[in-house]
Amino acid sequence: MRLRRAFSNGQVPLFDPFLLLDNFGSANPADYMAGFPWHPHRGIETVTYMLEGRVAHGDTLGNSGVIDAGDVQWMTAGSGIIHQEMPERAEGRMSGFQLWVNLPARQKMDVPAYRGLGASEIPEIETDTGNRVKVVAGSFGTAHGPVSGLSVDPTYLDVRVPAGGSFDMPTHPGYTAFAHTIAGSGRFDANGEVVASAGETLLHGPGESIRIDAADAPLRFLLVSGRPLHEPVAWYGPIVMNSQEELIQAARELRSGEFIKHARPVDEE
Ligand code: CO
Repeated sequence: MRLRRAFSNGQVPLFDPFLLLDNFGSANPADYMAGFPWHPHRGIETVTYMLEGRVAHGDTLGNSGVIDAGDVQWMTAGSGIIHQEMPERAEGRMSGFQLWVNLPARQKMDVPAYRGLGASEIPEIETDTGNRVKVVAGSFGTAHGPVSGLSVDPTYLDVRVPAGGSFDMPTHPGYTAFAHTIAGSGRFDANGEVVASAGETLLHGPGESIRIDAADAPLRFLLVSGRPLHEPVAWYGPIVMNSQEELIQAARELRSGEFIKHARPVDEE
């Protein structure tokens, strides 16, 4: 799978509580048909947002289905899940994002959970200045995303700003916030000095608001924020814990077949 990795373990703890952002996408099936065959996760949440194409998935919780363009899969690996994500067909463009959200130490071994969100479940609002904002998590204006109640209090927005337009949003003091540009270019700070174009990631500094101005073409970006955990990070591939001992234990459990603690979805409520 051809990936553009916006940030990852080399940037810890800059993006805390976010660990990794991948942009997968290509018009060439040879770049994407390998997909992500069966692999484990523990200690994190993975958030897949499809922009184009379709991906079939299956996991050890018994979930399986297709993530279509506009859909989001918010998967809490917790104590451990093994899943796969494979492109559905070998034609046309496929693109999307995968974000890894860290779990606090006290929740890393919780029961895994899975939310499959169809595009129609993700509210989109249009502001009076013509911005269109899809709210996957958190809230924007009067729109509330379907994902809430998580300890890092994430906001996940897909924002489109018309050419020459601007976007403003208050932020929580002390939270981490970053933008990742999907299309177009713009100025990403209040002084208008930080210019970025498609594929670039901008980590916002401390402050009480974010202001982003589109250049002379429509601008589209992801805006993500959350409460940092300020905990030690021990990271090995798809497993992110707090200590080396926990990583060694996970590797031992993978070898012995004891990695998966919960193989059935637990009833919600
Ligand atoms: Co995965």
